[in-house]
Amino acid sequence: MSNIIPHNFSISAQERASQKGHKGLLVWFTGLSGSGKSTIANALEQQLFQQGIHTYVLDGDTIRKGLNNDLSFSAADRTENIRRIAEVANLMVDAGLVVLAAFVSPYKKDRAAIRQTVGTNTMVEVFVDTPLSACEERDVKGLYAKARAGEISNFTGISAPYEAPTNPEVRIDTTNSTVVEAVEALMAILEPKLKPNG
Ligand code: ADX
Repeated sequence: MSNIIPHNFSISAQERASQKGHKGLLVWFTGLSGSGKSTIANALEQQLFQQGIHTYVLDGDTIRKGLNNDLSFSAADRTENIRRIAEVANLMVDAGLVVLAAFVSPYKKDRAAIRQTVGTNTMVEVFVDTPLSACEERDVKGLYAKARAGEISNFTGISAPYEAPTNPEVRIDTTNSTVVEAVEALMAILEPKLKPNG
């Protein structure tokens, strides 16, 4: 954008990491609605919080009620949803937080754009790979039934696509592992990345 010249602020990401005792990081959970993204993000946050790590959770149902309440579930609006969240997450990571983001984020190109915004070393992509049949069977929010009945259009997995990640840092199948096991696997990956001087 022309005529916008950013100021060079003095406190660096490295200095913020030293002050907090850990680096900022984005842990991005992608998967179908009802796959368990928010449940795992919540359990992971508790574990990190207990260890004195500064965390924040962003998730679809809260962001879409506030910041992104002008957006639908069309492909273009989902792209804009993810773009704004990536920008917000990037600021939070720069501020030194460990951000846990749980969004369906069904399009590969949108997830690749998050990595561009935040930087590949500061992002861990977690694919919550619960099969559609299991998500639909649980149907915690009753949305799959509505989508099948044609009451919701563009519903991911039913009437809109989900492009599964081919190379996520972590893949979790909640039909084969417990939340506790998922958190353990994630902690093992996150710990070295959080070291303030690593
Ligand atoms: S995303 O596709 O743009 O990343 P996001 O994670 O923000 O989606 O929101 C998904 C949540 O909105 C789902 O968990 C579900 O509760 C709700 N939802 C309502 N309508 C739809 C729809 N058409 N497709 C997917 N999720 C929907």
